[in-house]
Amino acid sequence: MKFNRRKFITRLLVLVASIEAIFIVKNGVSKSQHNSSKKELFNAGKADAFEPNGLYPFTTGKFYLKRFPDGGFLAMSVKCTHLGCVVNINNKTRGFNCPCHASQFNAFGEVIASPATRPLDIFPITIEKGEILVDIAKPIKRTSFEKSQLTYV
Ligand code: FES
Repeated sequence: MKFNRRKFITRLLVLVASIEAIFIVKNGVSKSQHNSSKKELFNAGKADAFEPNGLYPFTTGKFYLKRFPDGGFLAMSVKCTHLGCVVNINNKTRGFNCPCHASQFNAFGEVIASPATRPLDIFPITIEKGEILVDIAKPIKRTSFEKSQLTYV
């Protein structure tokens, strides 16, 4: 009788542990699937409203929208890649300065003065019915500017 009780308790514990393990794995997988597909589209307005070579701050979206002379758009995060301070527009260079530790970025968001070591993150842009939609849930880290990062109407 004692042996059966021990066996029963052991099997019960294994069963409970298995159920917990399944729950943890399932929950973890569904969370990561949810995060990877998460979108938060910020409507920046009509593409036609943005002048070529213009730089537009969107404080609620936490990005700067740049329209380059060839018409391409780039949405750059306002967060400095050093320690996350909000960068300001440098009106002379049309790039960005960080007020915290003096990092500087050019108009493409690339580092021109450290301590930051990588360009400002960018956000994916889609244009639907002439409106610019910026996915602010998906900052993209990059090592340099490439023309393929631009989005066109
Ligand atoms: S947080 Fe920008 S330079 Fe340090």
